[in-house]
Amino acid sequence: MQAQDYIFQATADGSISLLEPSLQELYHNRQGAYTEALMNYAAPTLALLSLQPVKESTFSLLDSCFGLGYNSLTCFDSLLSFRKEGRATSLKGISIKALDIDYDLCQASLPLVLKQRCFKHIASLDWLNTDSFQPGITFDYMHDDLHFQSTFSTSDLRQYLKNEPEDTFDVIYHDPFSPRKVTELWTLELFAAYKRRLQPNGSILTYSAAPAIRGALRQLGFHVYRTTAVGGKSGGTLACLQDLQDYLPLLSNVIMPLCEEEESRLLTTSGLPYRDPELSLTGEAIRIARLKEQGQIKND
Ligand SMILES: C[S@@+](CC[C@H](N)C(=O)[O-])C[C@H]1O[C@@H](n2cnc3c(N)ncnc32)[C@H](O)[C@@H]1O
Repeated sequence: MQAQDYIFQATADGSISLLEPSLQELYHNRQGAYTEALMNYAAPTLALLSLQPVKESTFSLLDSCFGLGYNSLTCFDSLLSFRKEGRATSLKGISIKALDIDYDLCQASLPLVLKQRCFKHIASLDWLNTDSFQPGITFDYMHDDLHFQSTFSTSDLRQYLKNEPEDTFDVIYHDPFSPRKVTELWTLELFAAYKRRLQPNGSILTYSAAPAIRGALRQLGFHVYRTTAVGGKSGGTLACLQDLQDYLPLLSNVIMPLCEEEESRLLTTSGLPYRDPELSLTGEAIRIARLKEQGQIKND
Protein backbone atom coordinates (compact mmCIF):
# COMPACT_ATOMS: atom_id res chain seq x y z
CA MET A 1 0.00 0.00 0.00
CA GLN A 2 1.05 3.61 -0.58
CA ALA A 3 0.87 6.43 2.00
CA GLN A 4 -2.33 7.75 0.37
CA ASP A 5 -4.07 4.38 0.88
CA TYR A 6 -3.83 4.61 4.67
CA ILE A 7 -6.52 6.44 6.66
CA PHE A 8 -4.60 8.66 9.08
CA GLN A 9 -6.61 10.41 11.83
CA ALA A 10 -5.65 13.01 14.42
CA THR A 11 -5.97 11.99 18.08
CA ALA A 12 -6.85 14.36 20.94
CA ASP A 13 -3.24 15.41 21.67
CA GLY A 14 -2.75 16.32 17.99
CA SER A 15 -0.57 13.34 17.09
CA ILE A 16 -1.67 11.22 14.15
CA SER A 17 -2.96 7.67 14.29
CA LEU A 18 -4.31 5.27 11.71
CA LEU A 19 -7.58 3.42 11.27
CA GLU A 20 -7.44 -0.36 10.79
CA PRO A 21 -10.54 -0.82 8.59
CA SER A 22 -10.92 -4.61 8.94
CA LEU A 23 -10.91 -4.46 12.77
CA GLN A 24 -12.56 -1.01 12.98
CA GLU A 25 -9.91 -0.24 15.59
CA LEU A 26 -7.61 2.78 15.81
CA TYR A 27 -3.92 1.96 16.08
CA HIS A 28 -3.73 4.10 19.24
CA ASN A 29 -5.72 5.45 22.16
CA ARG A 30 -8.05 8.26 20.98
CA GLN A 31 -6.65 10.50 23.72
CA GLY A 32 -3.35 10.58 21.87
CA ALA A 33 -0.99 8.29 20.02
CA TYR A 34 1.97 10.18 21.48
CA THR A 35 0.45 10.39 24.99
CA GLU A 36 -0.22 6.66 25.01
CA ALA A 37 3.35 5.89 23.92
CA LEU A 38 4.66 8.20 26.63
CA MET A 39 2.50 6.93 29.52
CA ASN A 40 2.41 3.23 28.73
CA TYR A 41 5.90 2.74 27.30
CA ALA A 42 8.47 5.55 27.41
CA ALA A 43 7.92 6.96 30.92
CA PRO A 44 7.99 3.54 32.66
CA THR A 45 11.10 2.64 30.62
CA LEU A 46 12.94 5.75 31.80
CA ALA A 47 11.74 5.15 35.36
CA LEU A 48 13.26 1.65 35.19
CA LEU A 49 16.49 3.05 33.72
CA SER A 50 16.72 5.53 36.56
CA LEU A 51 16.57 2.68 39.10
CA GLN A 52 19.51 0.73 37.77
CA PRO A 53 22.97 1.92 38.69
CA VAL A 54 23.58 3.68 35.37
CA LYS A 55 25.23 1.16 33.12
CA GLU A 56 28.22 1.59 30.86
CA SER A 57 26.25 -0.42 28.34
CA THR A 58 23.64 -0.35 25.63
CA PHE A 59 19.94 -0.34 26.44
CA SER A 60 18.33 -3.00 24.29
CA LEU A 61 14.68 -2.77 23.25
CA LEU A 62 12.37 -5.06 21.27
CA ASP A 63 9.41 -3.09 19.88
CA SER A 64 6.92 -5.79 18.84
CA CYS A 65 4.15 -4.57 16.58
CA PHE A 66 6.13 -1.44 15.72
CA GLY A 67 3.36 -0.01 13.51
CA LEU A 68 3.93 3.73 13.13
CA GLY A 69 6.86 3.52 15.54
CA TYR A 70 5.52 5.76 18.31
CA ASN A 71 6.70 3.62 21.20
CA SER A 72 10.36 3.41 20.18
CA LEU A 73 10.45 6.99 18.91
CA THR A 74 8.90 8.40 22.09
CA CYS A 75 11.32 6.35 24.17
CA PHE A 76 14.30 7.70 22.23
CA ASP A 77 13.01 11.29 22.34
CA SER A 78 12.42 11.03 26.10
CA LEU A 79 15.85 9.50 26.60
CA LEU A 80 17.42 12.51 24.90
CA SER A 81 15.45 14.82 27.26
CA PHE A 82 16.59 12.71 30.18
CA ARG A 83 20.22 13.04 29.20
CA LYS A 84 19.88 16.81 28.74
CA GLU A 85 18.88 16.86 32.40
CA GLY A 86 22.12 15.06 33.19
CA ARG A 87 20.55 11.65 33.79
CA ALA A 88 21.60 8.29 32.33
CA THR A 89 24.58 10.07 30.79
CA SER A 90 26.88 7.07 31.10
CA LEU A 91 24.55 4.89 29.04
CA LYS A 92 26.58 4.14 25.91
CA GLY A 93 23.81 3.39 23.49
CA ILE A 94 20.30 2.38 22.61
CA SER A 95 19.56 -0.56 20.35
CA ILE A 96 16.05 -0.93 18.92
CA LYS A 97 14.74 -4.03 17.20
CA ALA A 98 11.50 -3.04 15.50
CA LEU A 99 9.23 -5.94 14.53
CA ASP A 100 6.01 -5.82 12.55
CA ILE A 101 4.31 -7.99 9.96
CA ASP A 102 3.66 -4.89 7.81
CA TYR A 103 6.74 -3.05 6.56
CA ASP A 104 4.80 -0.95 4.02
CA LEU A 105 3.01 0.73 6.91
CA CYS A 106 6.29 1.65 8.58
CA GLN A 107 7.65 3.08 5.33
CA ALA A 108 4.48 5.07 4.62
CA SER A 109 3.99 6.47 8.10
CA LEU A 110 7.48 7.22 9.46
CA PRO A 111 8.03 10.36 7.34
CA LEU A 112 4.76 11.81 8.75
CA VAL A 113 5.20 10.59 12.31
CA LEU A 114 8.82 11.62 12.79
CA LYS A 115 8.32 15.28 11.92
CA GLN A 116 5.64 15.97 14.53
CA ARG A 117 6.14 18.67 17.12
CA CYS A 118 5.45 16.26 19.99
CA PHE A 119 8.99 14.95 19.41
CA LYS A 120 11.01 17.77 20.97
CA HIS A 121 14.41 16.36 20.06
CA ILE A 122 14.12 13.84 17.27
CA ALA A 123 11.88 15.82 14.88
CA SER A 124 14.94 17.88 13.88
CA LEU A 125 17.38 14.98 13.44
CA ASP A 126 17.95 14.57 9.71
CA TRP A 127 19.80 11.27 10.16
CA LEU A 128 16.70 9.62 11.70
CA ASN A 129 14.36 8.65 8.88
CA THR A 130 12.86 5.66 7.08
CA ASP A 131 16.36 4.42 6.27
CA SER A 132 16.94 3.95 10.00
CA PHE A 133 14.37 1.13 10.04
CA GLN A 134 15.14 -1.17 7.11
CA PRO A 135 14.39 -4.90 7.09
CA GLY A 136 17.43 -6.93 8.00
CA ILE A 137 19.84 -3.98 7.83
CA THR A 138 21.39 -2.67 11.02
CA PHE A 139 21.49 1.11 11.07
CA ASP A 140 24.22 2.72 13.19
CA TYR A 141 24.66 6.35 14.15
CA MET A 142 26.70 8.14 16.79
CA HIS A 143 24.50 10.94 18.13
CA ASP A 144 26.61 13.14 20.41
CA ASP A 145 27.99 10.49 22.75
CA LEU A 146 25.10 8.03 22.35
CA HIS A 147 25.34 5.11 19.95
CA PHE A 148 21.96 4.63 18.21
CA GLN A 149 21.37 1.28 16.55
CA SER A 150 18.19 0.04 14.92
CA THR A 151 16.89 -2.66 12.65
CA PHE A 152 13.50 -3.75 11.33
CA SER A 153 12.26 -7.33 11.18
CA THR A 154 9.30 -7.99 8.88
CA SER A 155 7.98 -10.99 10.80
CA ASP A 156 4.92 -12.59 12.19
CA LEU A 157 5.50 -12.27 15.94
CA ARG A 158 4.79 -15.92 16.73
CA GLN A 159 7.12 -17.15 13.99
CA TYR A 160 9.86 -14.86 15.25
CA LEU A 161 9.44 -16.15 18.81
CA LYS A 162 9.54 -19.79 17.76
CA ASN A 163 13.25 -19.42 16.95
CA GLU A 164 15.71 -19.96 19.74
CA PRO A 165 16.79 -16.67 21.27
CA GLU A 166 19.65 -15.08 19.34
CA ASP A 167 19.39 -11.75 21.08
CA THR A 168 18.12 -10.65 24.47
CA PHE A 169 16.48 -7.43 25.56
CA ASP A 170 16.23 -5.17 28.58
CA VAL A 171 12.66 -4.23 27.72
CA ILE A 172 10.03 -5.59 25.32
CA TYR A 173 7.15 -3.41 24.14
CA HIS A 174 4.08 -5.50 23.35
CA ASP A 175 1.54 -3.54 21.29
CA PRO A 176 -0.72 -5.71 19.10
CA PHE A 177 -4.40 -4.99 18.50
CA SER A 178 -6.63 -5.94 21.43
CA PRO A 179 -6.79 -9.41 23.01
CA ARG A 180 -10.42 -9.72 21.86
CA LYS A 181 -9.40 -9.19 18.22
CA VAL A 182 -6.01 -10.91 17.91
CA THR A 183 -6.10 -13.33 20.83
CA GLU A 184 -3.26 -15.41 19.36
CA LEU A 185 -0.79 -12.62 20.22
CA TRP A 186 -1.78 -12.53 23.91
CA THR A 187 -1.15 -16.06 25.19
CA LEU A 188 0.83 -17.37 28.13
CA GLU A 189 3.13 -19.22 25.73
CA LEU A 190 3.91 -16.06 23.78
CA PHE A 191 4.85 -14.25 27.01
CA ALA A 192 6.93 -17.28 28.04
CA ALA A 193 8.85 -16.94 24.76
CA TYR A 194 9.42 -13.25 25.54
CA LYS A 195 10.72 -14.21 28.98
CA ARG A 196 13.40 -16.38 27.35
CA ARG A 197 14.54 -13.29 25.43
CA LEU A 198 14.77 -10.99 28.43
CA GLN A 199 17.83 -10.03 30.43
CA PRO A 200 17.68 -11.25 34.07
CA ASN A 201 16.10 -7.97 35.28
CA GLY A 202 14.14 -7.41 32.09
CA SER A 203 10.58 -6.18 31.63
CA ILE A 204 7.59 -6.30 29.32
CA LEU A 205 5.36 -3.25 28.81
CA THR A 206 1.91 -3.31 27.25
CA TYR A 207 -1.15 -1.06 27.16
CA SER A 208 -3.47 -3.93 28.12
CA ALA A 209 -4.81 -4.24 31.65
CA ALA A 210 -6.85 -7.37 30.92
CA PRO A 211 -6.87 -9.90 33.80
CA ALA A 212 -6.16 -12.72 31.31
CA ILE A 213 -2.91 -10.98 30.35
CA ARG A 214 -1.87 -10.06 33.88
CA GLY A 215 -2.82 -13.56 35.05
CA ALA A 216 -0.55 -15.10 32.40
CA LEU A 217 2.37 -12.83 33.32
CA ARG A 218 1.96 -13.63 37.03
CA GLN A 219 1.87 -17.37 36.34
CA LEU A 220 5.16 -16.97 34.51
CA GLY A 221 6.78 -15.46 37.61
CA PHE A 222 6.73 -11.79 36.62
CA HIS A 223 6.06 -9.03 39.16
CA VAL A 224 3.05 -7.24 37.73
CA TYR A 225 2.42 -3.49 38.05
CA ARG A 226 0.10 -0.88 36.59
CA THR A 227 1.19 2.07 34.47
CA THR A 228 -0.57 5.41 34.10
CA ALA A 229 -4.09 5.48 32.69
CA VAL A 230 -4.62 7.28 29.39
CA GLY A 231 -8.12 8.65 28.86
CA GLY A 232 -10.85 6.48 30.37
CA LYS A 233 -8.68 3.38 30.33
CA SER A 234 -7.41 1.70 33.48
CA GLY A 235 -3.67 1.95 32.85
CA GLY A 236 -1.34 -0.46 31.13
CA THR A 237 0.82 -3.24 32.53
CA LEU A 238 4.48 -3.56 33.44
CA ALA A 239 5.70 -7.11 33.99
CA CYS A 240 9.12 -7.15 35.55
CA LEU A 241 11.50 -9.97 36.46
CA GLN A 242 12.81 -7.70 39.21
CA ASP A 243 10.72 -7.06 42.34
CA LEU A 244 10.16 -3.28 42.40
CA GLN A 245 8.35 -3.22 45.77
CA ASP A 246 11.07 -1.20 47.55
CA TYR A 247 11.25 1.34 44.71
CA LEU A 248 7.53 2.01 44.30
CA PRO A 249 7.55 5.19 46.46
CA LEU A 250 10.07 6.66 43.98
CA LEU A 251 7.98 5.69 40.99
CA SER A 252 4.57 7.04 41.97
CA ASN A 253 2.33 8.05 39.03
CA VAL A 254 4.47 6.10 36.57
CA ILE A 255 4.58 2.55 37.97
CA MET A 256 2.07 1.50 40.64
CA PRO A 257 0.99 -1.70 42.40
CA LEU A 258 -2.27 -3.25 41.23
CA CYS A 259 -5.22 -2.04 43.29
CA GLU A 260 -7.29 -4.40 45.42
CA GLU A 261 -9.99 -4.80 42.78
CA GLU A 262 -7.44 -5.63 40.08
CA GLU A 263 -5.80 -8.18 42.39
CA SER A 264 -9.08 -9.85 43.24
CA ARG A 265 -10.08 -10.15 39.57
CA LEU A 266 -6.90 -12.12 38.96
CA LEU A 267 -8.17 -14.73 41.44
CA THR A 268 -11.39 -15.27 39.47
CA THR A 269 -11.75 -17.08 36.15
CA SER A 270 -11.10 -13.70 34.45
CA GLY A 271 -7.46 -14.18 35.41
CA LEU A 272 -7.19 -17.43 33.44
CA PRO A 273 -4.68 -16.98 30.60
CA TYR A 274 -5.22 -17.61 26.92
CA ARG A 275 -3.27 -20.77 25.95
CA ASP A 276 -1.52 -21.69 22.69
CA PRO A 277 0.96 -24.51 23.46
CA GLU A 278 2.64 -24.61 20.03
CA LEU A 279 2.14 -20.92 19.14
CA SER A 280 -0.01 -22.08 16.25
CA LEU A 281 -3.74 -21.97 17.13
CA THR A 282 -6.25 -19.53 15.67
CA GLY A 283 -7.55 -16.73 17.87
CA GLU A 284 -11.00 -18.27 17.82
CA ALA A 285 -9.77 -21.69 18.97
CA ILE A 286 -7.87 -20.01 21.81
CA ARG A 287 -10.93 -18.00 22.91
CA ILE A 288 -13.21 -21.06 22.84
CA ALA A 289 -10.78 -23.18 24.86
CA ARG A 290 -10.62 -20.45 27.53
CA LEU A 291 -14.40 -20.09 27.66
CA LYS A 292 -14.63 -23.85 28.26
CA GLU A 293 -12.02 -23.64 31.00
CA GLN A 294 -14.00 -20.81 32.58
CA GLY A 295 -17.14 -22.96 32.46
CA GLN A 296 -18.89 -20.41 30.23
CA ILE A 297 -19.50 -22.93 27.47
CA LYS A 298 -19.84 -26.70 27.72
CA ASN A 299 -17.19 -29.15 26.57
CA ASP A 300 -18.24 -31.11 23.44
C1 LIG B 1 -1.87 -1.35 17.58
S1 LIG B 1 -0.86 -1.42 16.18
C2 LIG B 1 0.72 -0.97 16.83
C3 LIG B 1 0.93 0.50 17.00
C4 LIG B 1 2.39 0.84 17.11
N1 LIG B 1 3.07 0.24 18.21
C5 LIG B 1 2.67 2.31 17.02
O1 LIG B 1 3.34 2.86 17.88
O2 LIG B 1 2.21 2.91 16.06
C6 LIG B 1 -0.67 -3.15 15.94
C7 LIG B 1 0.41 -3.55 14.94
O3 LIG B 1 0.50 -4.97 14.96
C8 LIG B 1 0.95 -5.40 13.67
N2 LIG B 1 0.66 -6.84 13.56
C9 LIG B 1 -0.54 -7.43 13.33
N3 LIG B 1 -0.40 -8.77 13.33
C10 LIG B 1 0.92 -9.04 13.56
C11 LIG B 1 1.67 -10.23 13.67
N4 LIG B 1 1.09 -11.43 13.55
N5 LIG B 1 3.00 -10.15 13.91
C12 LIG B 1 3.59 -8.93 14.01
N6 LIG B 1 2.92 -7.75 13.92
C13 LIG B 1 1.60 -7.81 13.71
C14 LIG B 1 0.15 -4.51 12.74
O4 LIG B 1 0.78 -4.44 11.47
C15 LIG B 1 0.15 -3.18 13.50
O5 LIG B 1 1.19 -2.36 13.05
